[in-house]
Amino acid sequence: MKYKSQKIAYYFFALALLLLVLQIVYGFIMGFARVGYDGLHEFIPFNTARAVHTNLLVVWLLTGFMGAAYYIIPEEAEKELVSVKLAYVQLISLALVGVTAIVGYHFNYWEGRKFLEIPRPLDYLVVVNVLLFLGLILATLFKGKKRTTTAMVLTMGLVFAALLYLPGMIWFDNQTIDSFFRWWVVHLWVEGVWELILGGILAFLLIKLTGVDREVIEKWLYVIIGLTFISGIIGTGHHYYFIGTGKIWIILGGIFSALEPFAFLAMVFFTIGMYRKGEKKHPNKIALFWTVGTAVVSFLGAGMLGLAHTLPAVNRYTHGTLVTAMHGHLAFWGAYAMIVFAFISYVMPNLTGRKLYESRNGKLAFWLSNIGMFGMTAAFGVAGVAQVYLERKMGLEFGDVQKDIQVHFYVLIACATMFLTGVTYFIIEFLKYGKPNDEAIVEDNTVE
Ligand code: HEM
Ligand code: HEM
Ligand SMILES: [Fe+2]
Repeated sequence: MKYKSQKIAYYFFALALLLLVLQIVYGFIMGFARVGYDGLHEFIPFNTARAVHTNLLVVWLLTGFMGAAYYIIPEEAEKELVSVKLAYVQLISLALVGVTAIVGYHFNYWEGRKFLEIPRPLDYLVVVNVLLFLGLILATLFKGKKRTTTAMVLTMGLVFAALLYLPGMIWFDNQTIDSFFRWWVVHLWVEGVWELILGGILAFLLIKLTGVDREVIEKWLYVIIGLTFISGIIGTGHHYYFIGTGKIWIILGGIFSALEPFAFLAMVFFTIGMYRKGEKKHPNKIALFWTVGTAVVSFLGAGMLGLAHTLPAVNRYTHGTLVTAMHGHLAFWGAYAMIVFAFISYVMPNLTGRKLYESRNGKLAFWLSNIGMFGMTAAFGVAGVAQVYLERKMGLEFGDVQKDIQVHFYVLIACATMFLTGVTYFIIEFLKYGKPNDEAIVEDNTVE
């Protein structure tokens, strides 16, 4: 690390990991409820657990992105963050708003709009918080010496992500119109602007870890962004097939969303290509594992498993079933959770000056969490396909079918336990590094 203010990133990562653990707890509550152990039902019924699980996911990922931005922007702009104090204010207020929202969910203050459950009054506090964050990032970037493509792409991703939150805050009495704009947030986030954030962080990591010229890496970044937007924007149509928005979306959504995997495929070629080309043998292999892993697993989870149910002829049957949960888990894990893990793995030695990356725990964290998550994906997938045939093809009752597929949730719990073991190893490593310190500051960070 080169700048004192980059230390703030650590506290964002600590909060992100804490919220991830909470998210997993609620995942297990649902998993056990699915096989009949629903002892917490009075306090945490399934629908509440589901809302907490998915919303915590969004909050911890955004917290991770913010941490990454607070580290990357000063380094790329060559300028200390304009105000570290305000960044702490932003961190604490983010945690407070998040906790208030989560507590509220347990008292039924939530909206029933998947992923966007935060009640509107609290949304305004989210907006203030995000404006403070963006203000600090933008001020640092524009007062700094340099505005690199990597930093600009990351910042654009963050700004657009904030802007796209707004259509989700408008109130509509009509269910179709509400749904129409909910997808502007949910879809255009994960299949649009979050990919800019992902691309920006990925480019930064590859520059640092492979030593390939910035020009080469940033050229690729343009290609990936281009592919993302060409397919992803109109690809929103894959959520408009049968919700009352018009037949045109069946064609548009089908064609454009089927092109979306190309952006993820390009990311695989890019990442592996840069890894091969890299002459600099960076010692932090585990960060490289997570970085290459991000590209590969996001292609499988988002690209391939997205493609599996994106055509209207398929989605007609699979919509809203466990097939969706299958894709949702591996896509979010591969693309966004893994890039946050990659960044944390890269950054901890630099923040603390301790080089613990040769450890066995680090490898265990990588393999156990990934194999566990693949197993979970398979369990959801098998349950989902069975559900589709029994419920949607044969017309059996929803509740009866859920009983028929119960056995797959034992597999889910087993695999989730493996996944959690991996995450635990990751957190143990994180804790072993300890807090960031000023001794870790080096003048020339190319040697890190
Ligand atoms: C990193 C990128 C992605 C993430 C994190 C992601 C995640 C998700 C999640 C969580 C849902 C459920 C949303 C809800 O019901 O509210 C969903 C739905 C869906 N995703 Fe993705 N996705 C990604 C990329 C893709 C891609 C590239 C495709 C197509 C090739 C795709 C196709 C679909 C389809 C068709 C649905 C609707 C499922 C249904 O009708 O129930 N996704 N995705
Ligand atoms: C490790 C323990 C976990 C368990 C046991 C678990 C279990 C579950 C269950 C049972 C559901 C509800 C599915 C349904 O409607 O029946 C769910 C939803 C969801 N979980 Fe997890 N989960 C875990 C971790 C994660 C992680 C790490 C992520 C992201 C990286 C994640 C992302 C999601 C998403 C996106 C949904 C919504 C899917 C949809 O829209 O259909 N979960 N999870
Ligand atoms: Fe989508």
